[in-house]
Amino acid sequence: MPTLFHNLTLATMRDADLGLINQAALVCEHDRIVWLGKEANLPVQWQALKKSPTHCVNGNGGLLSPALIDCHTHLVWGGSRANEFKQRLHGVNYEAIAAAGGGIISTVRATRAATEAELFASAKERAEALIAQGVSCIEIKSGYGLSLDHELKQLRVARKLGAELPVRVVTTLLAAHALPPEYKDRADDYIAYICDTILPATVAEGLADAVDVFCENIGFSREQTDRVFAAAQALGLPVKLHAEQLSDQDGASLVASYKGLSADHLEYLSDQGIAAMAAANTVAVLLPGAYYFLRETKLPPIERMRAAGVNMAIATDANPGTSPIFNLPLMMHMACTLFRFTPEEAWLGTTKHAAQALGLTDTGELKVGMRADLALWQMSTPEELCYEFGINRLVKRWFAGN
Ligand code: NIG
Ligand code: FE
Repeated sequence: MPTLFHNLTLATMRDADLGLINQAALVCEHDRIVWLGKEANLPVQWQALKKSPTHCVNGNGGLLSPALIDCHTHLVWGGSRANEFKQRLHGVNYEAIAAAGGGIISTVRATRAATEAELFASAKERAEALIAQGVSCIEIKSGYGLSLDHELKQLRVARKLGAELPVRVVTTLLAAHALPPEYKDRADDYIAYICDTILPATVAEGLADAVDVFCENIGFSREQTDRVFAAAQALGLPVKLHAEQLSDQDGASLVASYKGLSADHLEYLSDQGIAAMAAANTVAVLLPGAYYFLRETKLPPIERMRAAGVNMAIATDANPGTSPIFNLPLMMHMACTLFRFTPEEAWLGTTKHAAQALGLTDTGELKVGMRADLALWQMSTPEELCYEFGINRLVKRWFAGN
């Protein structure tokens, strides 16, 4: 039996103004949207649903949007980096902590030591926090295992979250996140191990939907990134990149040359990178949580990306080192306050453009035929979600119609 949603405003995400429809209704059947429009135009076949106690949702004048998509997280990890947070407050910076064997590598040690069950329990808590704020789809990267067994362990945990929680999980292999200690001074050998061993095994087990690299002074070079991307492409996997976070490595133009799904972070993005991304339709994923938590001062070039027509998304980057944050509406708020996003851009950044950053075409918009991944908010205008922070205005969320 179909379900009717009515007495609400729809934020369809159809256009730059969010395709708002006032006094609207929407009908879904099974996991799909089958009709939407002005309530006055509701086809007669569904009018009787208004009397159904079980298949009618009265929105009470609220806002119905696509459920939110968090398109960049590192949700599965062991241990904590609260100690490094404290060190940074005493003046040590992120790169210095990494150089001293802390940073990503300290999380690698803890993640390798953790069992799958332990990783699942901590990641589940984080995923549930996101879900409670209206999220229906989460991208999860590996990158704290850095060996075949431990990368696969992380990705299996990610897949299990998708199987056991009411959320869609999209996985990304980020074996090229940091150099594991056993490959000290042998970065090229580690890249070869990723290309020849980790990547094919991950594909064989169906554990990754995309491949990512940390292209940075403290990560991997542009040339090494290119080798991983070529191997990913040969195996049919789309690519994305941690690009231009702490310095300009011209990574954005490299990922664009592979028609990559997204380039993420981008504080140091150049005009050349912007032009390449615009031409390739590669999404810019902005991560205001990491910018805020690292107390960065170099802003990503939002205005120039906007002018070039680059689609922009926003994500939590949830991770233990640079963004221990599990609240996507807070990222929308920060994208507006810190990056001067418009509220419309913030909404598109966690719906339609976030779906694009994951290569998903069946979610992120309200449209006939799309999945019924929906969020009902106690607010009459979309900007209210970006404006306030601290009260959860989510009334209810539907995941594939449930
Ligand atoms: O997205 N930049 C690299 N990766 C993560 C940080 C991971 C960590 O510090 O544990 C990021 O910021
Ligand atoms: Fe990240």
